[in-house]
Amino acid sequence: SNNIVVAIDGYSSCGKSTLAKALAKKLHFIYVDSGAMYRAVTLYFLRNKIDLHSHDAIMDALKNIHLNFHSRDYQTHITLNDEEVSDEIRLMPVSENVSAVSAIREVRHEMVRQQQRMGKSKNIVMDGRDIGTVVFPHAQVKLFMTADPYVRAERRYKELSPNNPDISLEDVFENLAHRDYQDTTREESPLTRAEDAIILDNTDLTPDEQLQFAIDKITPFL
Ligand code: C5P
Repeated sequence: SNNIVVAIDGYSSCGKSTLAKALAKKLHFIYVDSGAMYRAVTLYFLRNKIDLHSHDAIMDALKNIHLNFHSRDYQTHITLNDEEVSDEIRLMPVSENVSAVSAIREVRHEMVRQQQRMGKSKNIVMDGRDIGTVVFPHAQVKLFMTADPYVRAERRYKELSPNNPDISLEDVFENLAHRDYQDTTREESPLTRAEDAIILDNTDLTPDEQLQFAIDKITPFL
């Protein structure tokens, strides 16, 4: 097939989803937030107290997890077994456990299988940690996003604090640092830049500047 795949990877809270959504909207591509899938699996694991060391319990859980996206208005609307969990997956309990759950080989294999199916025949923008390396190694355009860690923590804090008055900037900074460490050092498909990925450091870039940068890279394939 000759559908176009745009893969966006990078550290936590680098603005991957902001850029991915803007791109999808502008180009009329499908947007898939792969992190939301790992977060929803994590929510299920927490609720059902799944033992992360039990292969059988993990396989059983994966069989019972049904994820669906409803990408109205290019936001992430995800359901876990038909329950809308889009807000709950952003809360700290999930953020604190998602990197451990997504380091599990069985979990990754199942998510990657579902993600590859979504990008088989449609023009798609997918963001995550292993999209350009593992999920779509042949994506036409790969971006690797990065930004100053303090700038990232401040951006995420601004996003979270209105609904989470108890959260502190330090908590957010720690969580990002911890997730980046776990994501880059895990054995199974660690976060790393694909050789052919274009680096986009957006520390000093506005969302519009990032969008233009990405559009320029994608235009030759349209
Ligand atoms: O993108 P987001 O920050 O919501 O992702 C949450 C977590 O899910 C990441 O910290 C990472 O542990 C995991 N993840 C992953 N592979 C992806 C997307 C997310 O391991 N493709």
